[in-house]
Amino acid sequence: MQSHDIFRSLRIPELVDVRQYVRTLPTNTLMGFGAFAALTTYWYATRPKALKPPCDLAMQSVEVQGGDGAKRSALLDSDEVMTYYYDDVRTLYEVFQRGTKVSNNGPCLGHRKPNQPYQWISYQEVSDRAEYLGSALLHRGFKPSSEQFVGIFAQNRPEWTIAELGCYTYSMVAVPLYDTLGAEAITYIINKADISLVFCDTPEKAKLLLTNVEKNETPVLKTIVLMEPFDEDLLERGKKSGVELVSLKEMEVCANLRKRIDTFPPNPEDLAVVCFTSGTTGNPKGAKLTHKNIVSNSAGFLKVTEALAYPSTQDVLISFLPLAHMFERVVEVGSMVTLNDTDIHISYLPLAHMFERLVQCVVLCHGARIGYFQGDIRLLMDDLKALQPTIFPVVPRLLNRMFDRIFGQANTPVKRWMLEFASKRKEAELRSGIIRNDSFWDKIIFRKVQASLGGKVRLMITGAAPVSPTVLTFLRAALGCQFYEGYGQTECTAGCSLTIPGDWSAGHVGAPMPCNHMKLVDVEEMNYFAANGEGEVCVKGSNVFQGYLKDDEKTAEALDKDGWLHTGDVGKWLPNGTLKIIDRKKHIFKLAQGEYIAPEKIENVYTRSEPVVQVFVHGESLQAFLVGIVVPDPDNVLNWAKKKKFGGSYEELCKNKDFKNAVLEDLLKLGKDTGLKSFEQVKDIVLHPELFSIENGLLTPTLKAKRPELRKYFQAQIDELYANNKV
Ligand SMILES: *[C@@H]1O[C@H](CO)[C@@H](O)[C@H](O)[C@H]1NC(C)=O
Ligand SMILES: *[C@@H]1O[C@H](CO)[C@@H](O)[C@H](O)[C@H]1NC(C)=O
Ligand SMILES: *[C@@H]1O[C@H](CO)[C@@H](O)[C@H](O)[C@H]1NC(C)=O
Repeated sequence: MQSHDIFRSLRIPELVDVRQYVRTLPTNTLMGFGAFAALTTYWYATRPKALKPPCDLAMQSVEVQGGDGAKRSALLDSDEVMTYYYDDVRTLYEVFQRGTKVSNNGPCLGHRKPNQPYQWISYQEVSDRAEYLGSALLHRGFKPSSEQFVGIFAQNRPEWTIAELGCYTYSMVAVPLYDTLGAEAITYIINKADISLVFCDTPEKAKLLLTNVEKNETPVLKTIVLMEPFDEDLLERGKKSGVELVSLKEMEVCANLRKRIDTFPPNPEDLAVVCFTSGTTGNPKGAKLTHKNIVSNSAGFLKVTEALAYPSTQDVLISFLPLAHMFERVVEVGSMVTLNDTDIHISYLPLAHMFERLVQCVVLCHGARIGYFQGDIRLLMDDLKALQPTIFPVVPRLLNRMFDRIFGQANTPVKRWMLEFASKRKEAELRSGIIRNDSFWDKIIFRKVQASLGGKVRLMITGAAPVSPTVLTFLRAALGCQFYEGYGQTECTAGCSLTIPGDWSAGHVGAPMPCNHMKLVDVEEMNYFAANGEGEVCVKGSNVFQGYLKDDEKTAEALDKDGWLHTGDVGKWLPNGTLKIIDRKKHIFKLAQGEYIAPEKIENVYTRSEPVVQVFVHGESLQAFLVGIVVPDPDNVLNWAKKKKFGGSYEELCKNKDFKNAVLEDLLKLGKDTGLKSFEQVKDIVLHPELFSIENGLLTPTLKAKRPELRKYFQAQIDELYANNKV
């Protein structure tokens, strides 16, 4: 099997052909060949080793039979997607059981106090505490059922994972809450998911929850379990509004004194997590994820990264003679890339997001360790040094900062030249599939940055947002560890595509993961057609979610009747079977005559107008033209008005009809100059004196326009604009 593989990768049809070729060579050539062989053998033994890719890099995905152009991972033997990796690991509960076994009850979760080393608790201890907590919930009348939801509102810390495992041990469902969603969203989630108990880290967060109860917004909440100490006052305050506050320790001790209840493990199809995500419109949506969803997604990750450290195609080509040697080496360097109990993961990305949870699942399954950061991202570098992790998941924002720092420190022309030269050398190695941290350049240039991450990192993965190819390629070269890029969203657990070992090129998001198929569908209005290998990215497989909690309408928008998840991203298949994300399916509608309108494009043009700061462009299929709501720029508009010979205050200007017409004229001129078609221009506008903001509910926390809200909010003005401009 192995020899066959090697010859395939040599691109030499048969071993016989090589032998015949050698036999036909004249003797003196053969002697020279012998010396050459000896040399290449020596070089072979000492040269950098490339990873043998798990499949042909020129064909990383293949079409599914009768699948409407859908593609699957080339790592699969058939069109059937993976649902698990280890036969005895089908739920998150079993993930933990396996970890306990293979680590031989080794250290599991670690945390540290400022300037102190990490302290560890063992797998058995974690499992015991999870059982105490779970039992305590059952003693309080909770049901061991996938309809029993439990809130977790905390930063990453061991108790987070323990509480979560406590739920899984008795088939209950974890619902993470996080504060960037805002107090209103937390109220919404508690009511929507019917959460009567929340595990909470600090008294501050408990106060936030209590305030909501006091305002009678979340009467369903009855218990807050605090991980950190709290005072009498808080206890009293809770009592007044009927909320019991209890410490996590107390819960564990009580359950220990009473009776530990026998475990009640979940089935793979049972719900594990409801993960709320904020969209650009409306309330957060609770993605329902089963144990199978999460386990299959981590199985897909393991399948992609399990590649053996075989030599690579090109390198073998030079020294094809000492075959026996090669086979030895193949066996020798065939150490698994997958994890084992010597691995350590640093946990600092929010556990409320599935990306971090998925990595934890992969880590725990192999009996490896999770070290939590101190809770302050500014101390992350210190935590990295103390922990020396081998696994370091990252997000593009952090990578950009690292990139800027490294180049910022190269502050003389010579240093900069060295840095650029060294990274060019290593990027050349990357292109031939070699990734390593022991080259000459590592020793003299990159050791410092590697050491700043603790000096032991061997696996990195970036996701959650697009990363610039320049930054990714440079850091792959500088850090010299296996560094993958994934793409996905909560609705497919975390990832649906992933780059594969050996393809260290950037600018794409890899091939479909082995747990799902992917296809592109036409986005006619934006001129993307599946027939051209472009379209909206759709995903189907064992990692695709079960819909949004109690929200059939939103579920139907995301999942079609055949089970395909529509992501809203526009992708393009590259010739080697990888996917590139090229656009986002925008808010698009048709006007009465049938022209397609992308309002965001028009708004981007209009907001460049000097007197204007925000614009909302509206249209509908029953109307023949567009109208707009325009917020004049409070900093600029008075000056601009003066030039146009208008007087008055900001509010007065907003009410002045002639001034409005002047602004409209400016917008139309700008639109014309930048090539907007005439039907893309607004017919009329109103000036609005108040900014769209997060506070008034018209922008998302990431400052994107909430279009349906804007439409509702300005309905009266919109109706009037249409009435006044009847054609
Ligand atoms: C764990 O993995 C590392 C890195 O692949 C390897 O060097 C080590 O020998 C492995 N340890 C065990 C106990 O398998
Ligand atoms: C280099 O990589 C190896 C394994 O990939 C790792 O064990 C070692 O600690 C790394 N060295 C540094 C300095 O990062
Ligand atoms: C895959 O194709 C893309 C685009 O053609 C290219 O940038 C990338 O380097 C290719 N990957 C490999 C491993 O050849």
